[in-house]
Amino acid sequence: MTKTKIATKGLDWSYAPAPESADHFQLKGQYGLFIGGKFFPASSGKRFPTINPATEKILAHVAEAGAKDVDQAVRAARVAYEKVWRKMPGRERGKYLYRIARILQERARELAVVESMDGGKPIRESRDVDIPLAAAHFFYHAGWADKLGYAFPGKTVQPLGVVGQIIPWNFPLLMVAWKVAPALACGNTVVLKPAETTPLTALLFAEICQEAGLPDGVFNCITGAGATGAALVNHAGLDKVAFTGSTDVGKAIQKSLAGRSTKLTLELGGKAANIIFEDAAIDQAVEGIINGIFFNQGHVCCAGSRLLVQESVEKEVVAKLKARMAHLIVGDPLDKNTDIGAINSKGQRDRIRDYLKFGQEEGAELFQTSCSIPQKGYFIRPSFFTKVAQSHRIVQEEIFGPVLAIQSFRTLDEALEKANNTPYGLSGGVWTDKGAKIFKVTRGIKAGVIWANTFNKFDPSSPFGGYKESGYGREGGRHGLRAYLECL
Ligand code: NAI
Ligand code: MG
Repeated sequence: MTKTKIATKGLDWSYAPAPESADHFQLKGQYGLFIGGKFFPASSGKRFPTINPATEKILAHVAEAGAKDVDQAVRAARVAYEKVWRKMPGRERGKYLYRIARILQERARELAVVESMDGGKPIRESRDVDIPLAAAHFFYHAGWADKLGYAFPGKTVQPLGVVGQIIPWNFPLLMVAWKVAPALACGNTVVLKPAETTPLTALLFAEICQEAGLPDGVFNCITGAGATGAALVNHAGLDKVAFTGSTDVGKAIQKSLAGRSTKLTLELGGKAANIIFEDAAIDQAVEGIINGIFFNQGHVCCAGSRLLVQESVEKEVVAKLKARMAHLIVGDPLDKNTDIGAINSKGQRDRIRDYLKFGQEEGAELFQTSCSIPQKGYFIRPSFFTKVAQSHRIVQEEIFGPVLAIQSFRTLDEALEKANNTPYGLSGGVWTDKGAKIFKVTRGIKAGVIWANTFNKFDPSSPFGGYKESGYGREGGRHGLRAYLECL
């Protein structure tokens, strides 16, 4: 393993590699579909590999579910719903969720390592963010299971039934938790389809459900790519679909469900503006910019992918940002020193490269750090564009990579106008010393979540979701429960 070199003012700081061990668990070579409490091969016998994007090596083969398997999973979920789960008192359901939460904590180290191996994210993030937050979502929703009547006073609440859930590859286990915990707490049963590049932690989660003694069929997991997802959405036996992923697929799902009574929530892309005013604490704001765009390689729907900086401090902010970026270590996701891991897939790496080209072709100026990156695997250096126009694709479209577009503004109104001028409305950030400005900006930006003097903070009790092409429905908090209940 090579040492990472960082040159600062003539000093040469070398970090010795600090790799997390992967010796404490054994991945199986093959994983089946989890239906009715047991693992099965796909009825077609088809399988597909999932790789480690940092090494390009195959980690395991996973069953590819076809329409017949999807049908079996939905039927298993229906039987479990009618016979067991909908009738079970909330306090009993809650016990299972607490159990799952505790097993997630017990197996946290294994889950963090598998998450980083299958998806490429730095172990520091999977260990300190993804897995603890996934457990926190189960603890939080376990607490609600027997108190749903208090969440919506004066209403009679009922579960919806069988829910089909499709999740992306950027926060694989955390998205399992965001989707499954509220659904089960409210008395629904689930058929989940994880993303094809990151199925492993969802399959370990299926094992955890077995370990927790969750009644058969309450949680089912079918692996596969877009065709499997489409087969699930098109199944007539679903009462609700919950999707997180690209806006294009979200729109396709909306079309498939048109005319059906199936409920739908969509959490789609974003292009958040992180707004820095001249009166902000600049050093902290620079940390916020780094966290906003380089956390999880920028594979974050609420990433601060546009920086709007007040003209009077633009030079200072850009200079400090460059200096800070020079310290970012790109490389082995399992190394505890790594700040930016592997891009999740070759396809996504190529997509990001395309945007780096589009930006330059449109006349923007690209800056990339000169850090070393591994020869094998999919990696992109931390990057930003200056001299960008509001109409540029790199300003309007979600890149989903470590690429920031920097624009300046003079007045608060101009900042708001630019911030709102994209098809998205998921999140935003504001950095200022003045409380009044915070309130003006948070009221002025049409987005579901806005952070003030911080960025990318999450909590299970805080609802999350978008406006415009970022989707609809909320996840987390009481608002998130509402999306899994009929309130009469
Ligand atoms: P995607 O939307 O294709 O994948 C998300 C999930 O949807 C996966 O589980 C996938 O198998 C499933 N899926 C794909 N086609 C489907 C269909 N027709 N019906 C039902 N399910 C389907 O996203 P992709 O192609 O992996 O990424 C492309 C871009 O999408 C990214 O560059 C990013 O801009 C955006 N994206 C946004 C995410 C977010 O969290 N908002 C997450 C993932 C991607
Ligand atoms: Mg993988």
